[in-house]
Amino acid sequence: MIQSDLDLFGPQPQRLAAHTVLLPGFALAEMEPLLDALRPVLRAAPFRHMQTPGGQHMAVALTNCGALGWVSDAKGYRYTPTDPQSGEPWPDLPQVLLGLARRAAEVAGFEGFVPDACLVNHYLPGTRLSLHQDKNERDFSQPIVSISLGLPAVFLLGGLLRSDRTQRVPLSHGDVMVWGGEDRLRFHGVMPVKPGVHPRMGERRINLTLRKAG
Ligand code: SIN
Ligand code: FE2
Repeated sequence: MIQSDLDLFGPQPQRLAAHTVLLPGFALAEMEPLLDALRPVLRAAPFRHMQTPGGQHMAVALTNCGALGWVSDAKGYRYTPTDPQSGEPWPDLPQVLLGLARRAAEVAGFEGFVPDACLVNHYLPGTRLSLHQDKNERDFSQPIVSISLGLPAVFLLGGLLRSDRTQRVPLSHGDVMVWGGEDRLRFHGVMPVKPGVHPRMGERRINLTLRKAG
């Protein structure tokens, strides 16, 4: 049987909005080095549930690597240079992640992306992330690069107003999404992760978002 061109070149980038691009399977080729690099990060800075400024317990467990890490507590949402749990600097951003993020951003039209923060979110089946904007970063000219691992999920891509309609974007293991430019402040969230067991990652979804925070 003769393969079609699409099969030969693999899944193609999908433009979801003017400056929002889904790169299906973009991280798959480097999956094992990526997971190898993630292991020591998670040992040094384990996942934890943070409190929202309103005192609610966040359903998503999170940690960070990079010069800055995103935290939430009674004082609000912000980036800190140290892990409040250990008092130590956040683990370094692995080279493999830096390279992946830079190349994904480039494919999406953002040249020279050098992230200094990577938020790592952990979802168990049933965990959702409500609609929000990523707006604690200093420079909104820099995009967000998001890498999905493990169980699939439906990403909700909204507009610039919380009340705007949302697009449902299925995300699978190894998919990378990039949003920036006029889409940088779009509301977004994640629908409850369906129960399942991913062959490589088990009963979880992990999402890495790379940002230029400082
Ligand atoms: C986030 O918005 O921080 C995470 C998005 C995702 O888990 O896909
Ligand atoms: Fe976000």
